[in-house]
Amino acid sequence: MDDLLERINNYKTEISDFIAEKAEDTEAFRIKYLGTKGLVKEVMGEMKNVTADKKREFGQIMNEFKLFAEAKYDALKAVTSNNSQAIEAGEDLSLPADQLPLGSRHPISLVRNRIVSIFQRLGFAVAEGPEIEDDWHNFTALNLPENHPARDMQDTFYINQNPDWLLRTHTSSVQVREMEKGKLPIRIICPGRVYRNETISARAHCFFHQVEGLYIAENVSFADLKQTLYFFVQEMFGKEVKIRFRPSYFPFTEPSAEMDISCLICGGPGCNVCKHTGWVEILGCGMAHPNLLDNCGIDSNKYTGFAFGMGVERITMLKYQIKDLRLFSENDVRFLKQFTAAV
Ligand code: PHE
Repeated sequence: MDDLLERINNYKTEISDFIAEKAEDTEAFRIKYLGTKGLVKEVMGEMKNVTADKKREFGQIMNEFKLFAEAKYDALKAVTSNNSQAIEAGEDLSLPADQLPLGSRHPISLVRNRIVSIFQRLGFAVAEGPEIEDDWHNFTALNLPENHPARDMQDTFYINQNPDWLLRTHTSSVQVREMEKGKLPIRIICPGRVYRNETISARAHCFFHQVEGLYIAENVSFADLKQTLYFFVQEMFGKEVKIRFRPSYFPFTEPSAEMDISCLICGGPGCNVCKHTGWVEILGCGMAHPNLLDNCGIDSNKYTGFAFGMGVERITMLKYQIKDLRLFSENDVRFLKQFTAAV
């Protein structure tokens, strides 16, 4: 039986390697393998010599072999009929083929990948979650009070009310899902698309991309947050870029801060890009609020943590000096093909 198996395998290799240029080659293939005196029939004929206990197994192998030869025949037919049409139309088949234009990664993907890889080097793992969220993961667990404006229909796209389903407004929802799993410590970044009901302009769109981060363990401090983000900025924008923190407010962090970097264009003295302040805001951050930890079943007396969130569009616009956010979603090749180089 091993002989038969070997024969079938050899035929299969032959079939795989078979090349047809003209219709006659395809016909020769048909006669050799699929004709009334062809090899497929011949192999099938061996069935009578197969012992009863192997009949089932070999029946299957032979059937597969037949289907394999038939599929190849169909493929050859398609090729040679195309070729003969081309020859009839006077085309020269020896000419080199048309170049297939090579695509390039979208600038948002390039920058997101770069952000992700910087944090991966610090031991952060990527976590992902659904874009359609429930109220709990997007708002309630995150300590967003009932009357918070972000919950308003004007700001958030609701898909369903009672129970509330919505398009997530940030990837903090992924952090909640990760905390609920109860495995500590947590050191994650959450890249993904988020949605807000904003009027489309050069600076806002109804969707954008975020990378949020979360680190929860024992004894995590604001100094850890600062050092982590400082490292990120140096890797992303260069060694001479400075950072500063301004007090801010988010319901899910306490204390909260907004982080600025020194202007990449003027480097400090002030210009149009930094509105003559020398600084541009790049992200929000803070220490995880104890209510948030408690909501997710984490002992806030034992654990502390920090979180941050940034818009990938904003980082990309700063990095490449792009003035209009709409360019990212207009799909204009003249814009997109400028970003082939690694960031
Ligand atoms: N979730 C906030 C936003 O989307 C960003 C943020 C994340 C701020 C984590 C602080 C801490 O605006």
